[in-house]
Amino acid sequence: MAKRTIDKAKAAKKDEFYTQLEDINNELRHYHDHFRGKTVLCNCDDPRISNFFTYFAYNFEFLGLKKLITTCYKNQNMDLFSQNQSEQAVYLVYEGDKNGNSTPDAEEIGVKPLIGDGDFRSKECIELLKEADIVVTNPPFSLFREYVAQLIEYDKKFLIIGHQNALSYKEIFPLIRDNKIWLGFGFKGNAGHFISSYEDVATAGDHRKGMIRVSGVTWFTNLDYKERHDNLPLYKTYSPKEYPTYDNYDAININKTADIPCDFDGVMGVPITFLDKYSPEQFDILGMSASAGYNPDIVGIPFKGEKDARPLIHGKNTYARVFIQKRKQSEQ
Ligand SMILES: C[S@@+](CC[C@H](N)C(=O)[O-])C[C@H]1O[C@@H](n2cnc3c(N)ncnc32)[C@H](O)[C@@H]1O
Repeated sequence: MAKRTIDKAKAAKKDEFYTQLEDINNELRHYHDHFRGKTVLCNCDDPRISNFFTYFAYNFEFLGLKKLITTCYKNQNMDLFSQNQSEQAVYLVYEGDKNGNSTPDAEEIGVKPLIGDGDFRSKECIELLKEADIVVTNPPFSLFREYVAQLIEYDKKFLIIGHQNALSYKEIFPLIRDNKIWLGFGFKGNAGHFISSYEDVATAGDHRKGMIRVSGVTWFTNLDYKERHDNLPLYKTYSPKEYPTYDNYDAININKTADIPCDFDGVMGVPITFLDKYSPEQFDILGMSASAGYNPDIVGIPFKGEKDARPLIHGKNTYARVFIQKRKQSEQ
């Protein structure tokens, strides 16, 4: 149900939902070492609302940051939840505590005007991006492809929130496959509560006042963290009955990531949620079959069918699958 809300929101380009400080803190604690001496940019963040700004401003000294830059997008749609009603888009620069009270005071934060509306793609925002070492935010889901493409183009380190659906975008999956980006530590149960005035359809037990529950949210990053190198414990053994081979691929089907057999060396089709548990030392990602159209660059393994690329078992379509193979001992 909550997913339907977010799909609708995406279609309507309703991107006004705000990340809780607690969720930012929970993720960021795995990456502290990356931030020493760095300039951080939050480029989809009205500092009056954004907890990303709050997190980095209040943890500036603890993380040893060099500079924090936050750009505020001047929203064109005044009746949205966003308070971005100023006529002027602005950006903020904070270079740390000067008066010794360990608090980012108003007079220590430089508020500077932007010429345009603060769109992350604008020339002036790209200049700020060039200055940054690490970009951290929750960008508009409706512009996720463009957002990531820009970070890659400018060769930036980043830690951003996105939807799991993006994993199968043809622009995003190759970056995951090639280990240029990966999933972060993540939200508990891959769902988060975001501050928003949008209608929430979460069940009563999951409902929180002033928030929407979004399922399928995750962090995308190219910052390394220890836990992503932990091998997934494998305990099952292969049998052709339990793990049928696809009709149209030379690969076996696995329905649950936890059921990956420990003794199978060939290609395996696993659910996309495998990517949450993926260790690059344990497996290679070869490709993915997520939709009906056949795209050899994405599928990544020989295809024995005609057009419909979805994995078939005894003539029946299965769900989207990522094709993986255990790394050889010598490569581990
Ligand atoms: C999902 S919200 C998250 C806001 C904030 N980063 C947070 O996590 O609390 C995405 C934000 O991006 C802003 N936004 C939308 N289009 C943008 C654009 N083209 N450039 C910069 N920001 C944009 C929206 O106004 C919205 O506040």
